[in-house]
Amino acid sequence: MTPNMKDAANQDKMESQADRAETREGKAVLWSGRLREKPGKEAFAFQASIKVDKVLAGDDIRGSRAHVAMLAKQGIIDGETAALLDAGLERIAQELESGSLVVDEDAEDIHSFIEGILTARLGDTGRMLHAGRSRNDQVALDLRLYLKREVPGLCAELALSIETLLDLAEKHSASIMPGYTHLQRAQPLTLGHHLCAWACGLERDLGRFEDALKRLDQCPLGSGALAGSSLPLDREALAASLGFPEPTLNAMDSVADRDFALELASASAITMTHLSRFCEDLVLWASAEFGFINLSEAWSTGSSIMPQKKNPDFAELIRGKAGRAGGNLMTLLVLLKGLPYAYDKDLQEDKEALFDSLGTASRSLRMFRGMMAGAEFNTEKMREALEGGFLEATDAAEYLVRKGLPFRRAHEAVALIVRDCIDAGQRSIAGRGLADLKNRSPLFEADLYEAIQPAACVAARSLPGGPAPLEVKRQIAVLREKLARKGP
Ligand code: ARG
Repeated sequence: MTPNMKDAANQDKMESQADRAETREGKAVLWSGRLREKPGKEAFAFQASIKVDKVLAGDDIRGSRAHVAMLAKQGIIDGETAALLDAGLERIAQELESGSLVVDEDAEDIHSFIEGILTARLGDTGRMLHAGRSRNDQVALDLRLYLKREVPGLCAELALSIETLLDLAEKHSASIMPGYTHLQRAQPLTLGHHLCAWACGLERDLGRFEDALKRLDQCPLGSGALAGSSLPLDREALAASLGFPEPTLNAMDSVADRDFALELASASAITMTHLSRFCEDLVLWASAEFGFINLSEAWSTGSSIMPQKKNPDFAELIRGKAGRAGGNLMTLLVLLKGLPYAYDKDLQEDKEALFDSLGTASRSLRMFRGMMAGAEFNTEKMREALEGGFLEATDAAEYLVRKGLPFRRAHEAVALIVRDCIDAGQRSIAGRGLADLKNRSPLFEADLYEAIQPAACVAARSLPGGPAPLEVKRQIAVLREKLARKGP
């Protein structure tokens, strides 16, 4: 360090500047000793990651403090050194928190920045911190700590979205609507059934995130660059002090593994894919042609040219953002494909994609929830949409099956009745007289007319999983019970 820099190191406000100056001269980087030349400014910035990994600052300091305590306990550094390092790290954490120290974006990464500040302040004492450690196990640790801290928030967002859907499903457990396959009207459903279908997908998403969190809950610190250390580190103690149930098993795996990033990016992509499908339904339902839903004005946007417009932009944008989530997963898969063991700098690219996926999923869930909570369903329109689509046809066929007709024969008889109706300009099977119906199957009796009322069709489909109002209520209860068991 130049005398000039020592002065700066003594002045709190100027420390980040000191580090920046050192960086520019290629001195503060952690690896410059062996190299006679240093990268130019642009090249240095190209290989830096601090703009992305600065969010790991708190996790990095937490890991370093645990490392210091372990080094002291193992007699690798003395108690006094450990106390100075710990106090220095705590101070950096507090200053970053209060804003009196600002992360210097000219540094290489958050690990270099924090160690650089510590060393600028403590001199050789600061240089004792990194014994037995590499940035490879350090970054693996920081990421896991960050995810253990952040992902529960995303899980909470998922749980809230599920609750919102279940509240709406409860309110509409008996609201009858058309169900679609191939986007053609298929069979009558209840809106509660439809909303429960969405909730089921999000409930599985929650399970995927929780599962990934369980698997990443191992501490990689003490793995060094790839091969551990000859120093008597205590990895069990490190794991315990950082809140992990155990250390990772293999040092190479610890620094090379990014399965947790793949799993979380995948869970995010699946969640976003779900949201995109729900949003596609919402966009359709919000159209005048469907008119099933009235999105609140606060969750709609207008047009800059067409004064009358009320557009479902939020739903469309969530649908669009599913593309980013899928892209990020692909980025990570391709990043890891063919990567030789153990650590490679390529791995530095993991964070941007992963953080973007988690942030996108979290923000999209919040928007989706707000939009749903503010929406009004037009159950009258939904009922009207049942007319003229012959959605009762399957129930009419099952009526015949109950009377002993083989299903294929029943299917054919009802298909011919639908044809008769269309030819006669009738909009439902109930429009035909009993004699006409008997002409297609003598098994029809007057009780058919009651059995093919939409409400009766839905009530009769009360099997587990079905749309009958009582069964929907049971599904809601099961999903609520699952959520309660997951609880925080
Ligand atoms: N910034 C790096 C990353 O995010 C930290 C690890 C660097 N290790 C190394 N050997 N270059 O992966």
